[in-house]
Amino acid sequence: MCGIVGYVGEKKAQGFLVSGLKRLEYRGYDSAGVVTVSDDGEATLVRAKGKIAELEKKLSGLKRDDHVGVGHTRWATHGEPSELNAHPHRAGKIYVVHNGIIENYKELKDTLPQHDFKSETDSEVLAALIDSFYQDGKYELVDAVVQALKLVKGTYGIAVVSELSPDELVVARSGSPLVIGVGNNETLVASDASALVGHTKRAIYLNDGEVAVVRKDGIEVKTLNAEPVSAKVEEIETNLAAIQKGGYEHFLLKEIMEQPNSLAETLRGRVNVKEGTVHLGGPGLSEAELRKIRHLIIVGCGTAYHAGMLASYYIEQFTSEITVEVVIASEYRYRQAYIPDGTVALIVSQSGETADTLACLREIKKQGVRTVGIVNAIGSTIAREVDGGTYVHVEPEISVASTKAFTSQVIAMVMFGLTIAQAKGVRNTVLRPYVEEIAGLPEEIGRVLDAVNGDVKEIAKRYAKYEHAIYLGRDTAYPTAMEGALKLKEISYVDANAYAFGELKHGPLALVDDRFFEVALVPEGALYEKSVSNVQEVLARGGHMVVITNVSEFDLPVECVVKITTSVRLFAPLLMNLVMQLLAYYVTVEKGYNVDQPRNLAKSVTVE
Ligand code: AGP
Ligand code: GLU
Repeated sequence: MCGIVGYVGEKKAQGFLVSGLKRLEYRGYDSAGVVTVSDDGEATLVRAKGKIAELEKKLSGLKRDDHVGVGHTRWATHGEPSELNAHPHRAGKIYVVHNGIIENYKELKDTLPQHDFKSETDSEVLAALIDSFYQDGKYELVDAVVQALKLVKGTYGIAVVSELSPDELVVARSGSPLVIGVGNNETLVASDASALVGHTKRAIYLNDGEVAVVRKDGIEVKTLNAEPVSAKVEEIETNLAAIQKGGYEHFLLKEIMEQPNSLAETLRGRVNVKEGTVHLGGPGLSEAELRKIRHLIIVGCGTAYHAGMLASYYIEQFTSEITVEVVIASEYRYRQAYIPDGTVALIVSQSGETADTLACLREIKKQGVRTVGIVNAIGSTIAREVDGGTYVHVEPEISVASTKAFTSQVIAMVMFGLTIAQAKGVRNTVLRPYVEEIAGLPEEIGRVLDAVNGDVKEIAKRYAKYEHAIYLGRDTAYPTAMEGALKLKEISYVDANAYAFGELKHGPLALVDDRFFEVALVPEGALYEKSVSNVQEVLARGGHMVVITNVSEFDLPVECVVKITTSVRLFAPLLMNLVMQLLAYYVTVEKGYNVDQPRNLAKSVTVE
């Protein structure tokens, strides 16, 4: 979700480019760059891996008074964080900055033999494609951009500047945001309005499929089909914090609510509903190697561990030919466990830097075991040290409590399991239901979030007074309950713990009294009646219970019921988890604690 800025106007472009990128830092990034072009067409390109401070060091010696330029903070998706992969990317006389993913970049790259590619990125392919239509100014820059974008599959927010026309920028968006700030004798471009605050109060929010020619004294917007667009100039909200959180009060709520999009990015280009199959290229295992897999070890910490637990239940459901073992990294790294032939280890980590997980990865690799990363942060240490991997592409997760990463980690691992099952010849009729549900999950998640958000906010007011909680589930609802308990525990400091429903009578039932409230996941299915019996056991002891269920006729006299109306059956626990994410959030807000930076915790635990 990195950042784009652009400037054309009376002032020096570099000043806004750097200050604008700093305003966008909260979006998360791993490298940055700017290019400015002088009035006589001389470009100055400066890029740096790491923080914007590194870029500023390189810029300090340059006193450019150029009046046009673009800048970028990159969240790597194709090619690890490096100066060469940082944007802007040059092609001929043009420079391009890009937010998003060009899905068909490989096919497009094959059509551009004339370009000397310097980076591993999909974005440089887009730059070369635009240049192939621009032909050093033979055609209008905007026309070249439009011709190129018509060939692109994927998502983009772009800003383009040419040495040949240092009085304009061309910007366009489809799937990644862009806003144009209307100033006095200057026009500014940014990924969101936070970069514009203090420069102008007037903004044009570009829509998907629109392209604009931006000059210091005017903006011309049209569609890719050259239909003119009468752009609406809106008033910019000046509350910077509010803008950076997308209008949400906290990053956590923003990240919970953006799960339809983040999961869609995880699935992008990897699911073929028509065939009922999935395709993961990253793990780098041949069909023959996939067929030889007999055992999976799934390694993670915290939420990543819970994601592995949940994924393991699904993988066991659709393939009987492999065993799955899920381990806590900080424990497994010291065990003398026997690892059988035919084992592959899945290393799960949002940050890709968790010390325990990294140490465990290194121990496993010493034993010659093939490792596959399920990671979010591109180019992170774990991502670089595994033998292959699948990035979950949820963009930066800012809040310490992991939400969107969990959902995508589960599905990414299930897709890896499906890839093995496909290679082993498991019947499509067995696998298709999983593929079809996965394909529809992003939309279903959005629908459920909208349906339950208000109710959960009210429920949280009733249960925020408790200091103890028991989370309960059976089968796939059990690891989901574990994740729900962790969410409440880590941000509201409530002593919340999860138990398998069937374990209640073996001890935890003794806890039930007025100090506790209970959250029970009761999904439809073969085990529904057993879970209902367990709910009754707790009720019989005066439990203060919230039941989350997708069974419309659930009617036990529990204190609260959150009914999820959905056609999703297999992955219903992931929908129930949305309720628990929101419950943890709203309880914490009720308690007045720091939602995004809870005490004692870090987003990436790089110490053992
Ligand atoms: C999740 O909400 C927690 N912040 C924590 O358990 C986290 O999942 C764990 O530290 C693992 O982090 P990683 O996925 O970046 O490796
Ligand atoms: N896909 C592009 C890259 O990896 C852009 C990523 C981003 O949005 O920052 O460079």
